[in-house]
Amino acid sequence: MIITLDGPAGAGKSSTARALACRLGWFYMDTGAMYRAVTLVALERDVALDDGPGLAALAESLAIAFRDGRVFVGDRDISSEIRTEQITAATRSVADAPPVRDAMKRMQRTIAGGLDVVTEGRDQGSVVFPHAELKVFLTASPEERARRRHREEEARGVDTSLHAVLAAQNRRDEGDRIRAVGAMKPADDAVLVETDGLTEEQVVDRLVHLIEERRTSRGA
Ligand code: DC
Repeated sequence: MIITLDGPAGAGKSSTARALACRLGWFYMDTGAMYRAVTLVALERDVALDDGPGLAALAESLAIAFRDGRVFVGDRDISSEIRTEQITAATRSVADAPPVRDAMKRMQRTIAGGLDVVTEGRDQGSVVFPHAELKVFLTASPEERARRRHREEEARGVDTSLHAVLAAQNRRDEGDRIRAVGAMKPADDAVLVETDGLTEEQVVDRLVHLIEERRTSRGA
């Protein structure tokens, strides 16, 4: 069974997807980490970030894998390296290239093949797994998302204001909304789950309930 979890940054997607997969004992696929992995290797090998076909060829050649909650390219654990500000910024343009998105779509389908999977990203329900048994679009109000990000940044020792975080987020949201490819929008048949005021556990409870409903209706 495939469950897709899409939505904007700050809606609590990653932690929810990880916790849900853990609760179910399912495989968790972090597709953002896959785009980050391609970007990391592209920078190391001097592949230009605007060379879509070159990036796609690189992506096709990489053995990206998830093991024990870590991300690997071949045998190399890149889990920490892909989380730097430099990679975050560069990944945006890599993820914009249609040939790269195509290559990643194929890779994501191969990795998920035959497994029970919670897959998380932006296009998982709308593009990559249109036949997923349950599609969830996780949202939160802009203020709530900015509050969460601000708390995370403070915890990392970054000196910034809530106001600045919200303004930057609004700019990114607008960019995402008008992106030519990979624009973020819920699949038509996605269930919208609003996470304002809910703990992670409450969100996971809600998703487990949705899964049970789907299973019951499929069995009926
Ligand atoms: O979720 P994240 O921050 O790790 O994602 C990294 C980048 O990849 C971000 O710019 C969004 C993009 N992305 C995407 O375009 N499609 C996905 N399925 C997942 C991530």
